[in-house]
Amino acid sequence: MTAPIEEVGTVCYIGAGTMGCVNSLVAAVSGYDVVLYDLSEETLSMVAERQRGFAEHMVAIGYCTAEAVPDALARVRTTSDPADAAAGADLVSESVVEQVGIKRDAHALFDRLCGPSTILTTNTSSLLVSEIEGAVERGGRFAALHSHLGSPLYDIVGGPRTTPETIDVLRRFVLSLGGVPLVLRREYRGYVVNGLIGALTRTALQLIARGDATVPLVDRSWMLHRSAPIGPFGLLDLFGLDVVADNMRNATDSADQAARRSSVLPLLTDMVEAGNLGMKTGSGFYEYPDTAYGRPDFLEDQTGTEAMHRLLVGAVIHRAVVIAADGVAEPEDVDRAWQAAMGLDSGPFDVVRELGPDEFGEMSRELVASDLISETEAHRAQDYVNRLPR
Ligand SMILES: NC(=O)c1ccc[n+]([C@@H]2O[C@H](COP(=O)([O-])OP(=O)(O)OC[C@H]3O[C@@H](n4cnc5c(N)ncnc54)[C@H](O)[C@@H]3O)[C@@H](O)[C@H]2O)c1
Repeated sequence: MTAPIEEVGTVCYIGAGTMGCVNSLVAAVSGYDVVLYDLSEETLSMVAERQRGFAEHMVAIGYCTAEAVPDALARVRTTSDPADAAAGADLVSESVVEQVGIKRDAHALFDRLCGPSTILTTNTSSLLVSEIEGAVERGGRFAALHSHLGSPLYDIVGGPRTTPETIDVLRRFVLSLGGVPLVLRREYRGYVVNGLIGALTRTALQLIARGDATVPLVDRSWMLHRSAPIGPFGLLDLFGLDVVADNMRNATDSADQAARRSSVLPLLTDMVEAGNLGMKTGSGFYEYPDTAYGRPDFLEDQTGTEAMHRLLVGAVIHRAVVIAADGVAEPEDVDRAWQAAMGLDSGPFDVVRELGPDEFGEMSRELVASDLISETEAHRAQDYVNRLPR
């Protein structure tokens, strides 16, 4: 963490839910004055208590000292008056519900209320900057600043009008929070990490939807061979199956990907309709608390895990290559993002380099044979890998 940056004294957070509470606390701990605005008085009345809880966690993981907390909490203000929230804000971070119309309206309102130099940002997880930025006049000072719960990674993405100066302020703002900024070269739905996690979880869902694998086999394979504390189905339960299903319905990518998504959506929809949303309802792919994958004997049976892991890791690295080939981020940035978000010490391109082009090709053929990627996708990725410096 460094000192607050000169351009930003006060940050306004639109939406005082989970992300508004967490992100405003992080900024307050870093020395910024923050104001949270929400439509709901009830939500605003819960901010102080929620932030005390989050602050305890931040102290426990060593993000800040216990002594820093009272000063930070004293820098937090809440209001349900948008004009009051906008007054004096140098930077606005919007975390309202994930609906394009609501986000556009919120930005149009703050565009009118804020001073001319204020930068507006959205924390959207699945929308594009260009789907929101038309609602504001200050397109040059509008961007996505996307945080990840429990990770230091922040994605920064400009839209068609965003200036380099705006991106630079946001990058330095993230560094001042002790965060890891990843400036994407162009917009990409789901950014880098959500794109990679999406490839992992969708592959896992495809494998069980077809009866090629079981939930424990998939998770055990990932956890064992990647030394990970949670597998793809544990992650799906953590995110919430309703949220995952909504994101899948919103996604727009290639026809190949769309066909694969629609092959797994019914499985999720059935579980959502039955009220099994994952960890938050106590039941999803696993039962909670005292979940099966947390028990010591979960990893004991290693049968079939190597081949399964190869398919899962293949899907992730394949998507990483496609993201780089699409010009969204350089390979080293893809690796940096994955490492920061997942707390791992290697990234997908480390695996690609380890494999080399021939073995990467072999892995791609296995993914094609299992109908997890198409021939066209495999060729494109192979082309890119062949051109990577050795
Ligand atoms: N939860 C995550 O892990 C996560 C991570 C990164 C980004 N995001 C994104 O952050 C956003 C918010 O997610 P969340 O988990 O904090 O949701 P949440 O439901 O906890 O909070 C949303 C808040 O927005 C408020 N709100 C709705 N419409 C509003 C408006 N017009 N003006 C002001 N406030 C309004 C609601 O009252 C609610 O308090 C979404 O876009 C989500 O995709 C979430």
